Amino acid sequence: MNPDEIRSTFFDFFGDRGHLLLPPSSVVSSDDSLLFTNAGMNQFRPYYLGERPPPHRRLMSSQPCVRTVDIDNIGYTTRHSTSFEMLGNFAFSDYFKLESMSWALKLLTDGFGLDRDRLWVTVFSTDDESFVLWQKLGFPTDRIQRLGIEDNYWSMGVPGPGGPNSELFYDRGPSFGRSGGPSVNSERYLELWNLVFMQDVRGNSDEEILGPLPGRHVDTGLGLSRLQLVLSGGRHVQELDPLLPKVRELTGSSSPSVRIVVDHLRTSLLLLDAGVAPGNDGRSYVLRRLLRRAMRHLHLLGVTDPVLGQLIGHPLVSREERAFTRTLVRGQNILQRALDRGSLPVELVFKLHETHGFPVELTEEIARERGFKVDRAGFDTLMASHRSRS
Ligand code: ALA
Repeated sequence: MNPDEIRSTFFDFFGDRGHLLLPPSSVVSSDDSLLFTNAGMNQFRPYYLGERPPPHRRLMSSQPCVRTVDIDNIGYTTRHSTSFEMLGNFAFSDYFKLESMSWALKLLTDGFGLDRDRLWVTVFSTDDESFVLWQKLGFPTDRIQRLGIEDNYWSMGVPGPGGPNSELFYDRGPSFGRSGGPSVNSERYLELWNLVFMQDVRGNSDEEILGPLPGRHVDTGLGLSRLQLVLSGGRHVQELDPLLPKVRELTGSSSPSVRIVVDHLRTSLLLLDAGVAPGNDGRSYVLRRLLRRAMRHLHLLGVTDPVLGQLIGHPLVSREERAFTRTLVRGQNILQRALDRGSLPVELVFKLHETHGFPVELTEEIARERGFKVDRAGFDTLMASHRSRS
């Protein structure tokens, strides 16, 4: 199935069950607590908190999301990406756990044709109700796992709406690693769909619950590319990206660096389309960092000409490349020499950053690859005293 077919299968299914389709919000979050939209429910936050009534009790959407927390995993794991499309069904003081679960199961098996025997689910450790409901739906007990707050409690912002969740996983088989379910192997057991049972107003930590929400609501998120990956039998989520063949051809490689370039370009395009320009703070810096990181990985593969802008046909990217190429080459040379000598003084890290414009994040990344650690606290101190002097 291609993305359009997956999307329309999802919308037909939930449309038949009374859900109103709403357009996605911009990936540039309008919520000040977030840089980027990171889930389909973001735009519905006031409905969860009871600040405004939703236009309909049952909603659905397809939301482009950006999440950069896993940036260091990109390319090395098969499943991480800095941007993705989230399909979701949402309910406000309407249906709750049973319908969310039974519909997710039905759509994955009857609608998308996944083998029911390869599905696993997780529930929040103390959520007996969900455990029993899965059993009632005929789910075998040995494929239901209980996990803690890290995995099975979801919330947006602090304070914000939150609740225990239940996730559906697909077993991709032994070529992806050892058995034992999602609690032991999240590469083999690929998380597809997260069902959140929104019931709490969360405080500043997961443990701190300020009180109940005015109603019991549902928020779900199904990763479109992950589902497409499972349906196509592919391995890495970046394989589905039309940019991949181009970057492979350009570099003649299929190493993790190729997937990093593809991932970062894809997310950069999303941000550029949303009106973000590369710059030195906030969202702009995230974009700049993605582009610089993509450049560095192209250099690692021997491509030192500025090709990113051409690849995605964007003048701002070409400008960014031209501006950074010399810095990248010079900074890398200085850093390599220091690492070859076996030490990385914090003064050098600072000089690279401040004098040569070689960002500390890139130094950290290269150092880490060679088994060195940047003294980040020392760097921050130098930065702070530099700022107060100037
Ligand atoms: N909001 C939930 C998530 O992002 C569905 O996983």
